[in-house]
Amino acid sequence: MPPIEIRPGVHWIGVNDRTTDLFEGLWPITQEGVSYNAYLINDEKKAIVDLSKSLKTDDFLDQIHQIVDLSELNYVIVNHMEPDHSGVLRTLRRVVPGVTIVGTQKTKEMLEGFYGITDHIQVVEDGDTLALGDRTVRFFSTPFVHWPETMMTYLEGEGILFSCDAFGGYGALRGGIFDDQCTDFGFYEKEALRYYVNIVAVFSRPVLKAIDKLKDLPVSIIAPSHGLVWRENPGRIVELYQEWAGYAGGPGEIGVTLLYGTMYGNTEEMMNAVAQGVSDEGVPLDIFDARHTHVSYILPSLWTRRGVIVGAPTYEGALFPPVAQVLSMAGTKRIRNRIATHFGSYGWSGGAQREFESFVDELKWEMTEPFEFRGGPTDDDLRRGEAFGAAFARRIREAV
Ligand SMILES: Cc1cc2nc3c(=O)[nH]c(=O)nc-3n(C[C@H](O)[C@H](O)[C@H](O)COP(=O)(O)O)c2cc1C
Ligand SMILES: [Fe+2]
Ligand SMILES: [Fe+2]
Repeated sequence: MPPIEIRPGVHWIGVNDRTTDLFEGLWPITQEGVSYNAYLINDEKKAIVDLSKSLKTDDFLDQIHQIVDLSELNYVIVNHMEPDHSGVLRTLRRVVPGVTIVGTQKTKEMLEGFYGITDHIQVVEDGDTLALGDRTVRFFSTPFVHWPETMMTYLEGEGILFSCDAFGGYGALRGGIFDDQCTDFGFYEKEALRYYVNIVAVFSRPVLKAIDKLKDLPVSIIAPSHGLVWRENPGRIVELYQEWAGYAGGPGEIGVTLLYGTMYGNTEEMMNAVAQGVSDEGVPLDIFDARHTHVSYILPSLWTRRGVIVGAPTYEGALFPPVAQVLSMAGTKRIRNRIATHFGSYGWSGGAQREFESFVDELKWEMTEPFEFRGGPTDDDLRRGEAFGAAFARRIREAV
């Protein structure tokens, strides 16, 4: 995409990625894409804020060149060292050897570790400023949003906060880069939540700390390093992030994630009865087949909803593996404070139940009465399954 001026002398020079299948090598974005937003402040001194993944590097350099000659660049401000933002750094440094890299002390250490760069580095501390001419930027240390070295850059006067990973989302930009140009906010919010839970959720406490730290700063534009630039309503994405971070310690909203898997259909037959019971009670329900759904898409529901029903048969004395993998990722993402139960079919001595209990122990979830049956469910089993679903839904509705 060509550069886009977001304020006089301040340009978006990002890269729209519709090529990568897995963000961080893990999270599917084949359908959705993602953007790596970078910015150029064109003053007496020329500074780039954030860079891009090493992808279409020639286009990236061309974009800069449309505004200033590359040799005129003075600073590259590295808010965050993750290679989705620093990937083009080594090439840029070779093209413009004199450019000064600005970052925190930890960034300096990582520059050597990741790229062997040890010179022309300016270390900044929390609150430091850098004069660019008519404009001045200020740096705020925001450790662990997303890595320990992370900071944010604030353009004084204009009130633009370059927030890096914070306030970002999946989803390649669709022409317009601004929130007021977004015509499908439902999609964007969903993808921003999926990004939040996949990437940032573990760091929810640092996110809330950063939001609190910057709460008195006059911000007119939030310019993150992924997704929309917020100029009409920057408060909206801050509120969403605050809400999502709140789930880290909270009980979650009334609703049930029904996660299941099946080898030969017995557990699935029961799943339909259990789902019927939950919906009879009018409690919102998300159903995921762990065999076909990437955990990336399941995590947002687990993160936000109070109840978790796991339907999984016994496989080799343990929980059906595709379901176990999702629960293991729930542990990695530190999803806490959930009320959970299990149902499933077994053939002889079972074992799924036991492994489920050890997951629940590890996750520190509360467990309610489980429900197992042998082989194919009888009509009576199915009636019990429906009652089991309804009882669980009532429990979720009543839990405070
Ligand atoms: C590969 C495989 C391994 C199994 N391992 C066990 C086991 O260790 N213990 C047990 O009680 N049942 C075991 N079973 C039996 C299943 O739990 C039983 O067939 C159940 O009805 C499968 O439910 P589903 O139709 O939802 O896949 C196994 C079945 C398969 C196909
Ligand atoms: Fe990151
Ligand atoms: Fe990122």
